Amino acid sequence: FAARQASQSVFGAVQRRTFSATASNATKVAVLGAAGGIGQPLSLLLKLNPRVTELALYDIKGAPGVAADISHINTKSTVKGYEPSGAGIKECLTGAEIVLIPAGVPRKPGMTRDDLFNTNASIVRDLAKAAADACPEANILVIANPVNSTVPITAEVFKSKGVYNPKRLFGVTTLDVVRASRFISQLKSTDPATENITVVGGHSGATIVPLLSQAGYTLEGAERDEYIKRVQFGGDEVVQAKGGAGSATLSMAMAGARFAESLLKAAQGQSGVVEPTYVDSPLYKDQGVTYFASQVELGPNGVEKIHPVGDMSEFEQGLLDVCLKDLKSNIEKGEKWVKENM
Ligand code: NAI
Repeated sequence: FAARQASQSVFGAVQRRTFSATASNATKVAVLGAAGGIGQPLSLLLKLNPRVTELALYDIKGAPGVAADISHINTKSTVKGYEPSGAGIKECLTGAEIVLIPAGVPRKPGMTRDDLFNTNASIVRDLAKAAADACPEANILVIANPVNSTVPITAEVFKSKGVYNPKRLFGVTTLDVVRASRFISQLKSTDPATENITVVGGHSGATIVPLLSQAGYTLEGAERDEYIKRVQFGGDEVVQAKGGAGSATLSMAMAGARFAESLLKAAQGQSGVVEPTYVDSPLYKDQGVTYFASQVELGPNGVEKIHPVGDMSEFEQGLLDVCLKDLKSNIEKGEKWVKENM
């Protein structure tokens, strides 16, 4: 349902010529890593979103070219590209309400998301520092993997600068929901746009826990195992099919744009906007799991309400138990690294 809403509004942007965002809805959105595989189509989709009035695109290389290209699209928002030299990241981030971070290296065949840790941890740390300085009140949407660890890294950077607001930091796990919904629709011959499977936990392998039972579905045996594996390791299908040229970019761009759209809707006063996302969460803190993805209601202040995980089958409870163990160590790894490498 949410996916359908998002795509309608994205394409509606082109069709409804009379639409204009009011001054009070002026919204600057920044994309860090905007010239990359995710960054380019994500920036394109944001340009088509009438809720975005200013698009600021930053990359260590290539962002001005992407910005020039996208700026010719006939929607009202302004677009500017930034490089490390010149106005740089500070001007890109100043005044931003939403900052999306798809900067970092993607996986190659055979790699897990955790294998990206060494490279991406420092990229995310540095970008988080820049955001904490230039736009400490923005909503920060972390896409760079491993999300399970890069979100805690971002939080520690914001804490170190005294500007951490747990309601404004999000790990983007929307693609897991998109996949879980698409894959069940293929098995059940339903309309994928009306499926919205709850996925909880984190964003890698066994930490991705789809809760099919909450949508009224029961799969058994091999069919169930294959479905779970496909949701948990769906990213690997893309990594293998691209044969070393990267991981999911187009579906991820759609998922990131959907999440940004949900945040903008909530910021602009729409109530009842719920998206699963990986946040600083009380749900499993007693087990040492300080960040967790579940259904989160969004509002003008970011996180409005973190919904509990809800009912699940015994099988799903087993998946969750494994998830919590892995997640705890992913979080601790990020926190330990950033404390030693601030
Ligand atoms: P890519 O390599 O195509 O693009 C990354 C971009 O980041 C490049 O343009 C590069 O120049 C830029 N970059 C690198 N260091 C930077 C820095 N310090 N500041 C600004 N920009 C910088 O990679 P792709 O495919 O776009 O993936 C990006 C990240 O997103 C990867 O870490 C990938 O694992 C992750 N990802 C996350 C998903 C999710 O569901 N959260 C899904 C798919 C990928």
